[in-house]
Amino acid sequence: MAIKLKGTGRALPDRVVTNEELVALVDTSDEWIRERTGIGSRHVSTGETVADLAVAAAKKALEDAGATGDEVELILVASCSSEMALPCVACQVQSAIGAHKAVAFDLNAACSGFLFAMHTADAYMASGIYHNALVIGAEVLSKIVNWEDRGTCILFGDGAGAAYFAKDPESQTPLPYVQRSDGTKGQVLACGQHAHKNAFYEGEDNLQYVTMDGREVFRFATRQVPEAILELLGKTALEPDDIDCYVLHQANRRIIESIAKRLQVDIAKFPSNVERVGNTSSASIPILLDELRKEGRIKPGMKVVLSGFGAGLTYGACLLELS
Ligand code: ACO
Repeated sequence: MAIKLKGTGRALPDRVVTNEELVALVDTSDEWIRERTGIGSRHVSTGETVADLAVAAAKKALEDAGATGDEVELILVASCSSEMALPCVACQVQSAIGAHKAVAFDLNAACSGFLFAMHTADAYMASGIYHNALVIGAEVLSKIVNWEDRGTCILFGDGAGAAYFAKDPESQTPLPYVQRSDGTKGQVLACGQHAHKNAFYEGEDNLQYVTMDGREVFRFATRQVPEAILELLGKTALEPDDIDCYVLHQANRRIIESIAKRLQVDIAKFPSNVERVGNTSSASIPILLDELRKEGRIKPGMKVVLSGFGAGLTYGACLLELS
């Protein structure tokens, strides 16, 4: 494989919001939230921006890899909740870590964003254009969530995760990947951003929050993700049980359990932090990856499947062999 994982890092806001605290805001209960989602608490920004969290996670990933900012050639940030339209978050990271020679840009594929950014980095490295990449997922979803909507505000959390990859000089082979997008299902999970007003058009103030058809998201994730993983493994000589660890997007526990069941793989191979972190969209995979590496639960020699799924709709999976 053309890329090697060299280091990871994560950053979460200090403020932890429990389910009990949400009971004061909306008509819900700790029991309902835990039973339907597996979530017990989440970290919520009290001022930290997407860029603040991305920079903090990036610095930790570089430190973990023993690398410095001036070595970095490519910075990709996946996010759907940046406070700033311009400059992009990746350029803010570039400046903060002194990565003066890095090319930096953002991409948005919602909860699949980290995976899609990683694939982009892999393609650049396999083709020899860049020799390393810092890939980051960072979100402050708490500001695009409607805190009066019990169907969505209970699900999400804020945070960032980063991974530093370096090209394997011995290999030009890209990672095995499956990536899919289905724009016809865009309204299943949506969020408007800016009021549509300009010098020639004065519409209603249409500032919007996240809206979601939860059941449709559930159906989509539990059907498409196992299929994508099986398609991925079909590109290798591996069976689902040959994989040491499945690092899935942490949307909710019931989705993860259902995917494990469909793949007929022991749930123990599907670690989860959704109970403590909630759904952090593009940040969820690298946050969990970092936790697992730092806890020694994933190690060199292991085969790890990463899989993301979310708004767009978008989804995908890749196989990472740790060295
Ligand atoms: N507390 C109490 N009751 C609630 C809450 C809440 N927080 N939210 C909804 N309800 C109520 C509904 O109003 C409804 O009441 P009614 O029967 O009187 O109308 C009842 O619970 C059932 O509502 P459903 O939406 O049918 O509940 P469901 O069992 O489908 O659970 C959930 C909802 C948890 C959102 C589920 O559909 C799900 O897990 N979907 C996946 C969504 C997801 O993970 N999204 C993450 C973002 S997308 C991504 O990351 C890929």
